[in-house]
Formats: sequence, C-alpha cells, structure tokens
Amino acid sequence: MHKIDLGLVEMTMDVMKYAIDRISATEREIGKPIKAEELKNLVGETITNKGIGGENAFNLWKKHLANANVQIDHPRHLAFVPASPTRAAIMFDLVTSASSIHGAYWMEGAGGIFCENEAMKWIVSLTGLPKGAFGVFTSGGTAANLSALVTAREHFREKEENRGKKGLIIASIGAHSSVKAMAKVIDVDILLVDSEESLHQSELEETIASLSLEQRNRLFAVVATGGTTNAGIIDDLNGIAAVCKQQNLWFHVDAAYGGGALVADSVRHLFNGIEQADSITIDPHKWMFSPYDCGAVLYKDMQLAKNAHSQQGSYLDIFKDEGAHGFNPTDYQIQLTRRVRGLPLWFSLAMHGTDRYKEAVERGLELAQIAGKMIEEHPNLELVREPSLSCVLYRRKGWKPEDYTHWTYENHKKGFALVTPTKYKLGNTYETVSRFCFINPDTTEKDIEQILKTME
Ligand SMILES: Cc1ncc(COP(=O)(O)O)c(C=O)c1O
Repeated sequence: MHKIDLGLVEMTMDVMKYAIDRISATEREIGKPIKAEELKNLVGETITNKGIGGENAFNLWKKHLANANVQIDHPRHLAFVPASPTRAAIMFDLVTSASSIHGAYWMEGAGGIFCENEAMKWIVSLTGLPKGAFGVFTSGGTAANLSALVTAREHFREKEENRGKKGLIIASIGAHSSVKAMAKVIDVDILLVDSEESLHQSELEETIASLSLEQRNRLFAVVATGGTTNAGIIDDLNGIAAVCKQQNLWFHVDAAYGGGALVADSVRHLFNGIEQADSITIDPHKWMFSPYDCGAVLYKDMQLAKNAHSQQGSYLDIFKDEGAHGFNPTDYQIQLTRRVRGLPLWFSLAMHGTDRYKEAVERGLELAQIAGKMIEEHPNLELVREPSLSCVLYRRKGWKPEDYTHWTYENHKKGFALVTPTKYKLGNTYETVSRFCFINPDTTEKDIEQILKTME
C-alpha cells in the first residue's frame, strides 16, 4: 500500500486526467442523488479483504458515483448557498492533499500556515477590524460560529460571579441554523428576535429591556448576521455594535455567506459596523471561491480566543517551546489536527490578485439585480422583496407550496437546473416562495431567463 510501483504511477496519471477533465469542463451535467440501494446494486461490494483494485474502484466512481452528486459549481445550481471554486484553488487543493501538512502548529506546518496567514491578512483587511485582530481557517461557518461563541462564553465566565451561570445569547430568526445548533452544543440559551428583516438597534434594545434580571445577568453575546442565508439581509451592524458596547456584550457577526461581499465596492457600506465586532465568521468556501471545506473565524482580540481554545498536554509542550515559535492555528478554534485549508485560497489569490475577486463577487450581485428586473417584467412572477446581496426571493402568482416543490424536482430530474423553494416570513405567516442565490460568475443571463421560462 505504501510502495511505489507501475500501478501507482498509472493510477496517478488516471487521477490527474480526471482532475484536469473536471477542472476544464465547460458543459457538465448537474448531477442528482440516487437511492443508496440503487447505488449498491450498481457498484456491488467495494470493501473486501483483498481489495477490488484501483482501476476497478475508480471506474465505478466515474461510471456510477460521480454523477450521484450535485455539481455544486454548475452555473444553474442556484440553490442554498452554491459554490464556485476557482480552478486555481481546486488545483492547489490537490497540492494541499499531496503535501500532507499538519496545520495545527507552526513547528510542523510553517510553510502552509504562512500562506494561510497571508490570505487571512487580506480577509481581515476587508473587515476593517483594528490592529491586532486576526483569524484562522476552520472547516466552515458552523465551526467558526462555534469557535467564536466558545471564546465569548469563556470570556464571560472569566468573571468569578459568572462561573456557574448558563449563558444566554440573542440573535434574530434570520440567523443561520448553525447559530442555534451551536448554542445547544455549548449549552447556552438563545433568544430569537422575531423578525426576518434586518435586526435593528431599537429592536435589540427592546429585547434586552424585556429580559428578567436573571436573564440579563446571563446574557453575554449578540449574534448579528452579515447576509442572511435565506434572503441576503444584513443586520444593522453599527446599531448592534453600539448596544453591545454600551451593555458590555460580545458582538459576533456571522457573515459566513455575505462576508465575500466585503470586497465589493457597490455594497461594502452595508457592512459598516462590522469593524467593531469581537468576532466574525466568513466562509471562503461560499463567496471567496475556495473549494470545500474552508471557513474562517476572525477575532478582535486573539488572546481571548487563545485563552479559550489552546489545548494542553505533555505531548504538546514541544510545540510551545522556543524552537517552535510561530503562529499555531489550533490555539484559536476548536480543532487540533487540521488541514491547511486556507492554502488553496492563498494560491488562487496570489495567482489572480484581489481585483479579480472583486469582479467575480460584483458579478454575483449584478446577476441578482438582473434576475430581479426579469421577475418584475414577467406577468406571472413577483418579487417578494428587493434582491439583497445575491439572494432573490420571488413568487409565481397562484402557486401553492407543492407547485414549487414539483417544479424544483422536474427541473432537477431533467438535469436542467437546481433552484429550491424556501419560506419567508411576511407579517405573521410564512409564505413558500422561490429563491435564487448567485455565487458563480459563470451563470449567464440566458440561464436565468431559461429557468424563469419553466415557471410560465
Ligand atoms: C450565515 C451562515 N452562517 C453559517 C453557515 C454554516 O456554514 P457551514 O455550512 O460552512 O458550516 C451558513 C451556511 O450556509 C450561513 O449561510
């Protein structure tokens, strides 16, 4: 298994050819899931005592398994938050894998961590966080939110009187599900302001004023969203920052999806206030065109993150020794062993320069405006709200929830497009509507036109 022979060389060439084909393909099927039993029937037993051979296994992958995945970077995949890694980043993901770098400590991963940090400096510069602020790459937005909330909670509990308290955080119902899920993981309560529109200073003030004294004493953080997943809405970051400052609360901004738009001059002002955050989540695997998985957590005060996350163990002491001095990513987030997942982003940034990133993000924003206009001009379609960032919510007049579901499946089954419905809160009710989220700059106006045509 660990020997080099002709078979290995041949397999390397096959894998490289596959990767080149995948990276350079312009026309691709969108891909769709197949039931596990059907896949089993197609591929049979693959894990055996003696192995089925690399060529055989790879052929099964190419013939039956690869297309049972949605091509997340297909130009007509506009569901959830799509992805569109640059070809340079994908290529360097191969290099990252081939390099076997342990990215926890500088002692073992200095070269890779150096590159990650160069990319991180650029991300931090987009936020306007003050000098001393920095960040680390995580497996995604969920892990970034968790790492930030653990830091906030530990900071809160530094005070003697807070030691045994169960914490409480405030967010809005527009916050991503991972914020609610991670509150469970760290066993803190979460109070959700009942509005899917931008969370404003006054609403936050009212919510805090409505707390009992016992609740107020447990409240330690507010999570604002810099681009809700459902509708691209940005909370009133300046107003929320002011409240957090005045009330001595941790201010976290979840910009996992929207954070990429910090680079875009046309919308940068919408994020004003983000520079006052104590911590920020941004996912390069969303709108910074990195391959999965790559999230990032940024902190104003890195020492607080280190206090919360640095692991101790006799076998780890060497990493903290004089000769190993350097930046240790493990100290600032929940993982010990980690892939240097910021490395593909670094390569792509270095190769293309940051202006190309700006252009690609601006294109996503533009596509949302174009789609908005097409919808407004269409007799059977209506915007639910103005497009925000790259999200467009719209309704097909007269359609019931099941019509949207049927339409989604039909287009997906045909291999044409994947556009999924969502629910949006209007007044006291949730309406099922259709949703576009644009990330991929290769999506064309014709793609949008054709998709809308299938709703006629
Ligand atoms: C605003 C927001 N926060 C957090 C997440 C979770 O990120 P991940 O799926 O990378 O864990 C998402 C994912 O869509 C998101 O949009």
